[in-house]
Amino acid sequence: MSSVIVAIDGSAASGKGTLAKRLAAHFNYAYLDSGSLYRAIGVAVLRQGGDPSNESQAVAAARTLDISQFTPEDLRTEAAGVAASQVAAIPAVRAAILQFQRDFAHKPPQGKKGVVIDGRDIGTVVCPDAQAKIFVSASLEVRVQRRIKELRAKGEVVIEARVRADLEARDARDSSRSVAPMKPAEDAWQLDTSTLNADEVFDLAKKFVAGKIA
Ligand code: DC
Repeated sequence: MSSVIVAIDGSAASGKGTLAKRLAAHFNYAYLDSGSLYRAIGVAVLRQGGDPSNESQAVAAARTLDISQFTPEDLRTEAAGVAASQVAAIPAVRAAILQFQRDFAHKPPQGKKGVVIDGRDIGTVVCPDAQAKIFVSASLEVRVQRRIKELRAKGEVVIEARVRADLEARDARDSSRSVAPMKPAEDAWQLDTSTLNADEVFDLAKKFVAGKIA
């Protein structure tokens, strides 16, 4: 029997990661944060003193990626997010990790019956066959405030204008790249979370997914 695939795409700091994790726990599906793969590739290049926008360095890091070398803290920094967005714009980097993501979707670990994968191109490129696709968005201002709260909670010193500029630059790079740009799949449900809290978003999404997999 083929696995159920739930694709959660959306912009940086839109709340898609929190939502995807909660949906995976609720439906007892496996969870894959595809952004963490790009983050790990970006951080690997930085660790070698390289430039994440350099194609040969980024592709070499993608082909030798060992995710166990990174803690969640290594991957959640703003610098990792920017490096991820740079390596993600390189088509050969995307190609290097495409099959891994598809295998995870079609053969979930631990015999789970389904997967929730979040990213930018899950519903459009990685798993166009996903049964449920949600594209999560929120206004730039709301995302800036959410990101600031998250960073302050981690004890980081935050410069608001810098957070805004980083998010804008990532949005622009993620949606304008030539391969697998961030965009809603034609059959995705578009969920604007600007005026919703995390519980409200989860409730709406849970009902949507339940309806799709029934
Ligand atoms: O979701 P995130 O912020 O962890 O993603 C980090 C970067 O990785 C993001 O700016 C773009 C890239 N990315 C991508 O291009 N495709 C994905 N499926 C997931 C992330």
